[in-house]
Amino acid sequence: MDERSAAWAAAAEAASDVPTLTALFAAEADRAGRLSVDVAGLHFDLSKMHLSKAAEVALAGLLAASDFESRRAALLSGATVNPSEARAATHAAERGSGSGSAVAAAADARRAMQRLVERVECGAFGEIRHILHIGIGGSALGPALLVDALGGDGARYDTHIISNIDGVALERAMRVCDPARTLVVVVSKTFTTVETLTNAESARDWIGGAERFVAVTAAPEKAAAWGVARENVLGFAESVGGRYSLWSAVGVTAALGLGWVAFESLLAGAREMDTHFETTPVAANAPVLAAMVDVFYAAFLGAETRAVFAYDERLRFLPSFLQQLEMESNGKRVDTTGRALQHPSAAISWGGTGTDAQHAVFQLLHQGTHLVPAEFVMVKTPGHGLGAAHHRQLLANAIAQGAALMRGRTAQEALAVSSGDAALAAAKTFPGNRPSSAIVLETLQPHTLGALIAFYEHRTFTAAVLLGINPFDQWGVELGKEMARAALDGNAGEGFDASSRALLARLL
Ligand code: F6P
Repeated sequence: MDERSAAWAAAAEAASDVPTLTALFAAEADRAGRLSVDVAGLHFDLSKMHLSKAAEVALAGLLAASDFESRRAALLSGATVNPSEARAATHAAERGSGSGSAVAAAADARRAMQRLVERVECGAFGEIRHILHIGIGGSALGPALLVDALGGDGARYDTHIISNIDGVALERAMRVCDPARTLVVVVSKTFTTVETLTNAESARDWIGGAERFVAVTAAPEKAAAWGVARENVLGFAESVGGRYSLWSAVGVTAALGLGWVAFESLLAGAREMDTHFETTPVAANAPVLAAMVDVFYAAFLGAETRAVFAYDERLRFLPSFLQQLEMESNGKRVDTTGRALQHPSAAISWGGTGTDAQHAVFQLLHQGTHLVPAEFVMVKTPGHGLGAAHHRQLLANAIAQGAALMRGRTAQEALAVSSGDAALAAAKTFPGNRPSSAIVLETLQPHTLGALIAFYEHRTFTAAVLLGINPFDQWGVELGKEMARAALDGNAGEGFDASSRALLARLL
């Protein structure tokens, strides 16, 4: 048995005999303290996860057997870590971390981005009131999260992020924007994404030209050929994956809306997390510990999903941002050498906002038959001026949910509130022992949000190392794109089954 197989077997062994959460707390007085990490204005508490000491040792062994340290060094030095596309993954360089030529190239690109922000502010595009950001997937989800989380009432522009090809989205924005006062920012790494180009063409028709268009892309010649003036095209490196790209010029909409100082602070927060990830030993390394727990649940304990609940309205787009980050990165069926995985890959990521989700989906978390690790993301200081009652209730609910998931309610306790009715008592029984983690931001600022997003990026990377997969490609979305093109071109031949052909005949 090779080292990795042996380490895998040891983790499976630890998973076969995990104490309950209550037992884990009873056995260790300082469990909450030991499994908590504070970094960059963020507090992570993983103590209500089934990480026994035996599991922790086994997973750390699996990390070592998976060459984690050299893979992390490769990531941060700009070496090739994406073998199927023969590329590095230089998102950390985009914020000034790591080493290698990508760091200086990113700094140059950042200066160009800053100049563009200044030109907009100085009126080079006229008096701008609205920004229409057109992009999809990684070219939209990060900017949307940043603008929504940090913009608030202080946002400098009325910003609309349009991703869907469904014209309803663009038309709604057109209804409230003045075309003469709108800057259009078209973001597409490849500048070939059909949805983005179709939306951009409709926006160009609406405005009557591309003078007030900015393009952000890794294919600048394509943007220029499309009609965006050269000086309005911002580039970024091929080695920056779409879902990791908000630190690059892809974030220009956020830099415009929040101001350059805020954008720099976002990058500084991410850098602080990069340093933590690079230098902190495993036992106190927040993204590494979180990844170990993720893989423990997904690959060893049979959890098919994990849920993230943002207990803060400002972070309402966090779950959808994480869905792309985690599922497009680690939803793979083969390992880095092309062999079929013998274990599950990443869990399905889903979630919502608290307290809304409590009144919609938490029933399943408390009493359903699925094991779902839940994550509660909270911010200590409120994002509104309505008084303390709102925020106290919000935070109390988040904490109470985690406690209730772990504690449950015994059959005996349920009987006591069921007038002796056994069936009712069964319905009121909660098994408990359900895992949750907590992430607390001291305040929601560019710095802390930058650190939070970088935390999730490194967690996703570390989980990929443990699972043995490449988190930086996404071949799985290609086939559907090709077939959509064939359907549009009227080539729905043998590649389409009878049901799909009938639907095409009905709809197109
Ligand atoms: O189809 C998936 C995808 O390639 C994502 O990875 C990417 O974020 C998105 O499409 C948009 O791609 P682009 O930025 O090239 O338009």
